[in-house]
Amino acid sequence: MAKLIGGIGTSHIPTIGMVMDSDQMKGEYWERFANGIVPAREWMKKNKPDVCIVVYNDHGSNFGITLQNVIPFGLGMAKEYKPADEGFGRRQVPTCKGNQELSAHIANSLLLDEFDIVQSHELDVDHGVTVPLSILFGEDVKQWPCEVIPLYVGVIQYPQPSGNRCYNLGKSLRKAIESFPKDLKVAVLGTGGLSHQLQGERAGLINAEYDSKWLDKLVHEPLKAKDVSLVEFIRETGSEGAEAVMWILMRGVMDEEVNEVYRFMHSPVSNTNYSLMILENKN
Ligand code: DHB
Ligand code: FE
Repeated sequence: MAKLIGGIGTSHIPTIGMVMDSDQMKGEYWERFANGIVPAREWMKKNKPDVCIVVYNDHGSNFGITLQNVIPFGLGMAKEYKPADEGFGRRQVPTCKGNQELSAHIANSLLLDEFDIVQSHELDVDHGVTVPLSILFGEDVKQWPCEVIPLYVGVIQYPQPSGNRCYNLGKSLRKAIESFPKDLKVAVLGTGGLSHQLQGERAGLINAEYDSKWLDKLVHEPLKAKDVSLVEFIRETGSEGAEAVMWILMRGVMDEEVNEVYRFMHSPVSNTNYSLMILENKN
């Protein structure tokens, strides 16, 4: 049977991809960042997931930049996923290889569990997927060392799915993973957040203190962390702070009691409080 081996949360800031792609991860500021992500790369090398399910939000790359289609939840069903062209050409990073058998199983299991999920048979993945993979696997890889299944959450247009809904989707995803009959090691990544606002009067807002306290809750009191309202996230952590729901979905996949294996913050990275966390179930 497939086994869940851990949950990882990480911000997905495009600047990090640009700095890595242009070999500019240099100087004191970026060296602190580079050192801070090393334990996550080591965790990946040690634990070797066969598949990473990457929970992310698409930033207008697939469903129409003018938001023709606004989709709460969707799953990648494809054989492969190319890096999306987000206006500067495609990132020169590997194409993600999918796992269609596991995607089909997850789609079926989620639908039977009453989560209506859009199934995308063609999907380019934007910085919400490619930047976390570069963070976790390195900048010089010829191919990603695991298969990838993208699971997207629509947070760039209102209304957005609540933390509670995302947490419950995580629980349903856990059932799907553990009922897949092949022996695969699966890690779930939740990308995005934490505090940031990219436009409007409060552009540049960062609230690292709130983020730290909320992460403590996410680890130890997930039922409280998931019930933070979207209005509170937006008020305390900025409009894009609502990307924290992807971390909540990842947390929903894990047991209620977890070990926090690693946490790192570096602030600001671009407009964001860069945050990284690794969780493992206790047994
Ligand atoms: C930034 C952060 C994001 O989450 C994103 O999707 C785009 C940009 C930023 O801080 O620059
Ligand atoms: Fe984002």
